[in-house]
Amino acid sequence: MQLIKGFSKLNKTEKIEVLKRVIPLNDHQTSLLKSFIDNIPGSASIIENLSENYISNYVLPFSIAPNFKINDKWYFVPMVTEESSVVAAAAYSAKFWCEHGGFKAEIMGTKKAGQIYFTWKGNIEKLQVIFPLLKEKLLFCVKHLTANMEKRGGGITGIKLNRENKHKSEYYIIDVEFETADSMGANLINSCLEVMGTELTSFIKNNLGENEGEAEIIMAILSNLTPDCLVESQIDCDINELSQISGNLSPEQFAAKFSMAVKIARENVSRAVTHNKGIFNGIDAVLLATANDFRAVEACGHAYAARNGKYTILTDIEISDNRFRYKLRIPLSLGTVGGATSVHPMARSALQLMQNPSARELMQIAASVGLASNFAAIRSLITDGIQKGHMRLHLSNTLARTKELK
Ligand code: MEV
Repeated sequence: MQLIKGFSKLNKTEKIEVLKRVIPLNDHQTSLLKSFIDNIPGSASIIENLSENYISNYVLPFSIAPNFKINDKWYFVPMVTEESSVVAAAAYSAKFWCEHGGFKAEIMGTKKAGQIYFTWKGNIEKLQVIFPLLKEKLLFCVKHLTANMEKRGGGITGIKLNRENKHKSEYYIIDVEFETADSMGANLINSCLEVMGTELTSFIKNNLGENEGEAEIIMAILSNLTPDCLVESQIDCDINELSQISGNLSPEQFAAKFSMAVKIARENVSRAVTHNKGIFNGIDAVLLATANDFRAVEACGHAYAARNGKYTILTDIEISDNRFRYKLRIPLSLGTVGGATSVHPMARSALQLMQNPSARELMQIAASVGLASNFAAIRSLITDGIQKGHMRLHLSNTLARTKELK
């Protein structure tokens, strides 16, 4: 192997040739890479331009989980995942719950936030006194960026000056709050924060005089922690109705065992992580299908799960008055316009399949699919065990692979 200079300047065929030489790739590997370039007529240049150093396409199954009834509206939910049984699990829950009241989902908030971190040796009390003026300047300097967002009902909804340690702070923080309507808004937020950072340094210089010294922007960046961009999805039925899915257990035994499984996950971190992973099985698959940023959502979801100082689960159960109530509350910062969501042809198709939901509606759909995935996982765990369904799908994967190798 050797240092390869100028790799990014080569076209995709030349890049493959370089790999063929240096790795080296054999003819089969080379033609496999080439064959996956040619299977998307009409969309090749869109996909190619989504990422740097493109050499081929990576294909995953685009599946449908039918029968999702969410707030009395029916959905065929597109899901993209490499894990067999994820779609089957979501579809299993969707089918059961559509006949038992469906999913009731509610948006708790849609605020996003970003921060400008800066150091400054000046007197912070002086800055606090003229902060209302600074706020006006900060809002004004990004008007050209926020105008469109404001037309769509969004914009900047708050600006605050904070410090990490009230007594001896090495750095300060400007917290900026955004409503980004139907876009996830990462680029807009970052652009605003960078422009505001420049404005902040010149404001301090011009308004507080040379004695206070200059502020230095350390960084300006959106936060993927969006605890105020929150959605809740809930399922609720009479315990007797669970008899259809309770296997060898009575519906009462099923509800009690389900509740114990949730309690264990709430209290035990080893189990909590796997429990939450089962939620993200469904959510990530919807986010991948719609080209949303699943890394941001995962990072935020796990931080939110640990918001009280101990990592725990994102679902909650209540068994009372002979009713089984189970809900998921999760921060989901999603978009249905902008970024890859607007340009990737399959992401657009995914949105069309869901009748072009708003970002708020997509939050409700994704949360419901997450809850469905988790519900199906726990049902399997406390009845037949997880391997029965897994192994059936694993077997069909193995058979397909064996056939291909022949
Ligand atoms: C597998 O992808 C997900 C599960 O492990 C989730 C869970 O255990 O709750 C089945």
